Amino acid sequence: MKEFKDKVALITGAAHGFGHSLAIEAAQRGMKLALADIDQDALEKTLSDVKKIGAQAISIPTDVTEESEIANMVDETMSKYNEINLLINSAGVAIPGPIWELPTRDWEWILHADLMSQVWALKRVIPIMEKQKGHGDILNVASMAGLITSPLMPAYYATKFAVVGMTEAVEYDLQAVKANVGLHVFCPAFVQTDLYHTENHRPAKYTDKSDPYYSSKTFKEGQKQAKIDITTGMPIDNVPKIIFKALEDDKFYILTHPGMNPAIVARAKNIPSGEGPDLKALAPFLEQTHEVKEDK
Ligand SMILES: NC(=O)c1ccc[n+]([C@@H]2O[C@H](COP(=O)([O-])OP(=O)(O)OC[C@H]3O[C@@H](n4cnc5c(N)ncnc54)[C@H](O)[C@@H]3O)[C@@H](O)[C@H]2O)c1
Repeated sequence: MKEFKDKVALITGAAHGFGHSLAIEAAQRGMKLALADIDQDALEKTLSDVKKIGAQAISIPTDVTEESEIANMVDETMSKYNEINLLINSAGVAIPGPIWELPTRDWEWILHADLMSQVWALKRVIPIMEKQKGHGDILNVASMAGLITSPLMPAYYATKFAVVGMTEAVEYDLQAVKANVGLHVFCPAFVQTDLYHTENHRPAKYTDKSDPYYSSKTFKEGQKQAKIDITTGMPIDNVPKIIFKALEDDKFYILTHPGMNPAIVARAKNIPSGEGPDLKALAPFLEQTHEVKEDK
């Protein structure tokens, strides 16, 4: 069994949601923590939560859309602990809106926050893990939206498919060089986190209050729907345990919503036959995205 006690975890997006709950779980397992996030006040709250559990921990205010800040995050973790045994890339945003309305800056924002942040972290952390003794693990948070598609969020789906594809491709490269690094990609459907507060985490460089899009009906309805989807999702309580169990079992894909599995299979089956996306065929699966049932 893999042992995480006394190992070092670097977690992005640690202020809220999955990042926060994984930081708590890692602390309970006796890990030393480096916690990164753009939301500094909430990050300090996570720091205090894990310290109360007894964990050794540091906070590193980081905007993951900047490569130099990812470099600094890794450097600070190394200067504190001199090793990184588990990297969790959980920082991310969710941006709804049809392609003909969504501003290009929002595409740039999500591609940097959800994809490039992970690319820049992997570039730096894989060589560190390769030089260390023992095994390293990396968890890239993607989404069910990296395995199947549905309407109204093309920027989100494009980014999450890219995260899944990037993670699979890197896994082959690691196997080819017999690396001591295990990659994992987390693909949940809706889970109750703070993701519907994405707008609170918009960096200044992606902000333009004069753009009429941000007062449009499309934007407002997208925000409203995001809140409904996330607040009616699966409770987060058991998710960190599911993830750590999957890391221990060396699972590559980590899924939480078994009711969605037929949709993944149906999409794969349609590809060789040339059949494209079909809203009517998708409808029954969309009802499963909020399920809270466990697999029987
Ligand atoms: N909650 C869900 O239903 C769900 C489903 C599938 C995938 N995901 C993915 O999980 C990941 C984590 O989201 P969550 O649901 O925990 O949401 P969340 O909003 O609760 O947490 C995301 C964290 O990322 C941080 N963050 C955002 N932009 C940042 C930046 N530029 N630099 C540093 N930190 C930044 C936020 O401050 C926040 O702490 C995201 O990639 C999201 O797409 C979530």
